[in-house]
Amino acid sequence: MKLFRFQLQFLIPLGVTLIVAVVLAFPLMDALTQRWFSRDLGLRSALVASALSESINKAVSGQNIERLHPLFDRTLKDERLTALGLCRSDGRLLLSTPEYPVGLSCAQANEISHRSPPRLVSEAGTMHISIHPIALDSGESVELIQLHDLAFVERRTLLSRQYFVIFVVLLGLVIALTTVVAAQLSWRAWIKGIRGILRGEDVARAPLSPAPPELPADFAADIRARLRDLEDEYHRNHGSSEHWSAARLRSLLRTQLRSDQVIVASNREPYIHERQNDQIIVSQPASGLVTAIEPVMRACSGTWIAHGSGGADREMADKQGCLALPPGTSEYTLRRLWLSPEEEAGYYSGFANGGLWPLCHLANMLPVFRDVDWVHYQTVNRRFAEAIIAEARVEDPVVLVQDYHLALVPAMVRERLPRATIISFWHIPWPNPEAFLICPWRSEILHGMLGSTIIGFQTRHHCRNFIDTIDRTLEARIDHERSTILYHGAESLIESYPISIAWPESAEQEKWPSVIEHGAEVRRQHGLPESSRIILGVDRLDYIKGIPERLAAFERLLEASPEWLGKLVFLQVAAPSRESMQEYQMARARVAHCVGRINARFGWPGYQPVHLLARHHDRAEILALYRAADVCMVSSLHDGMNLVCKEFIAARDDERGVLLLSQFAGASRELPEALSINPYHVEGMATALQQALEMPLAEQRERMASMRMAVREANVFRWASRMLSDASRQRLHERVTLRVQRHHDA
Ligand code: F6P
Repeated sequence: MKLFRFQLQFLIPLGVTLIVAVVLAFPLMDALTQRWFSRDLGLRSALVASALSESINKAVSGQNIERLHPLFDRTLKDERLTALGLCRSDGRLLLSTPEYPVGLSCAQANEISHRSPPRLVSEAGTMHISIHPIALDSGESVELIQLHDLAFVERRTLLSRQYFVIFVVLLGLVIALTTVVAAQLSWRAWIKGIRGILRGEDVARAPLSPAPPELPADFAADIRARLRDLEDEYHRNHGSSEHWSAARLRSLLRTQLRSDQVIVASNREPYIHERQNDQIIVSQPASGLVTAIEPVMRACSGTWIAHGSGGADREMADKQGCLALPPGTSEYTLRRLWLSPEEEAGYYSGFANGGLWPLCHLANMLPVFRDVDWVHYQTVNRRFAEAIIAEARVEDPVVLVQDYHLALVPAMVRERLPRATIISFWHIPWPNPEAFLICPWRSEILHGMLGSTIIGFQTRHHCRNFIDTIDRTLEARIDHERSTILYHGAESLIESYPISIAWPESAEQEKWPSVIEHGAEVRRQHGLPESSRIILGVDRLDYIKGIPERLAAFERLLEASPEWLGKLVFLQVAAPSRESMQEYQMARARVAHCVGRINARFGWPGYQPVHLLARHHDRAEILALYRAADVCMVSSLHDGMNLVCKEFIAARDDERGVLLLSQFAGASRELPEALSINPYHVEGMATALQQALEMPLAEQRERMASMRMAVREANVFRWASRMLSDASRQRLHERVTLRVQRHHDA
């Protein structure tokens, strides 16, 4: 169809051009034909005059003009010759044949014969007039007038026109046909050539390899170049097409970073030891940071420095606070730092979670900044920095500093280990500059962070906010093109690295009970009927998670669609978090209040619409919940990334279940197939819940399969690898600069 349209585009102008050519050619052709015939008639009349001259001389000289009649009649047998006349030199008409126009005098005939063309238009038709003098014996002369009929000339002209039109039409048809056939052949050759390039038959060869013969070489080169650009862009955005795994990350460490030492520092530790009765139990905290970093540490076998916050942590560690983890497999070392209750209150609950946390999250909670907290924050950051320096076995370790608890650490480490590669990752949102300016110690925080080689954020938007904040606060040179900040002679790269989870290994997945078994187990545990539908929420109990808002949406759904009563339950896991803080106690009370209200309104003995599971759940329990749920609801008011949604997706190997995801969570940018919700719009969320509960299985599968592919690809090993690759490039650059400097000095 497209080709046909393309051919029409060519054929229409061709047709128009030919018509114009014909129209323009007609007057020219007519003029030429007339001229040829005039010349022809001129010659013919000269011949006739010459043939008759002898007889005319004799007849006129012998005063016997009558003798000329039969001669003239014979001469007129030529069909084109219409009439003859004979004039004396004084202009008197001596003789004329019957067809000679009445009233045409010798003088008029003479005058017409000198015109160009010499034409007479009369009632008898159009005639060509020629006059030839004939010398007489007496020395005088007479003039022979010949009138030729021009009707045949007009007939010939018409005929020529017809032949010309037929010729042009045939020519047009031949041109059109040839062009269409040539276009078809050339089109096919182009398509074949381009397909070859797209299939990689050609692009895989070096750019110097010849282009397919049908394609112009420069055009093929352009396509190849563009494909390479797209390939690069894809790799930049998605990493290589090879699946990112722990093994691949390890090999990257060995090759690109030459197994350089990796040290991670975070406030939260990966395993907490608590004493329960006479036993010490170990658990993993509910923390996105731990979910993401732990698999990376297993792959890198480094040292993880974190606050030892568990009641039995000291008992499980050596004198330096170190122990091998994970329990049983010992793949990396955890070094626990011990904080006094005052330090923990000031640094963690005060400055980090009472100040920076609400500052960075738009959740209608005002940040509180107090001098005493700031002092503790600095002291604890110094302790972390000292621990990192003490752990460093080489002068240039790779140090991964995690989150807003340790903003000052990079600059502190940089002072003592100037050649270290320091990667800071900010797990939570970075606010706009106006909001950040609220912090009384904003310059110190930014100065501390700019000790990093790389500062990573969850989204590009957070990067832009950070760069704008630097612009408004410090004297630094910003290179927007390269996304770098030059500050006090050192450069930091500001880049977005969306964090993720480790995709479950197939061996692990094979051990999972089936979805049906998990569903039955969860329903049994919570006393739910077999046919009940489940909406699930899994969060730390934090005011940014939007738990009351999602419960209000559930309440609205029950109001609007009472047919769900008795058939639908909301299971809300709310892991206790930051419980010593008043804001969190209030958040907990608010959630409990919502749950009580909904259950009182819509429940009855034997049916409780909302189950609040306000305790710590281990990974196996959470997995069962994810697999039992019909809908998973993430309604954060603001969230850096949110890994619950990615864990839910990874758990659903049956490709069922619907994800409702807040548009204010970083993950929403990567998961467009989720049902997007605005946690501030209760009715909108209720409608989305209804849509999720009624979603056909085929649609669930479409959406889930696509999200599973996205999360599997963009897993946490890719997250770490991208940062480490960028770091290794940076290190290489520094080493080369150093060597060049040495040569220079030498
Ligand atoms: O993801 C943000 C974050 O603050 C992490 O840094 C932290 O580990 C997690 O939430 C849980 O918070 P907390 O460590 O205070 O329990």
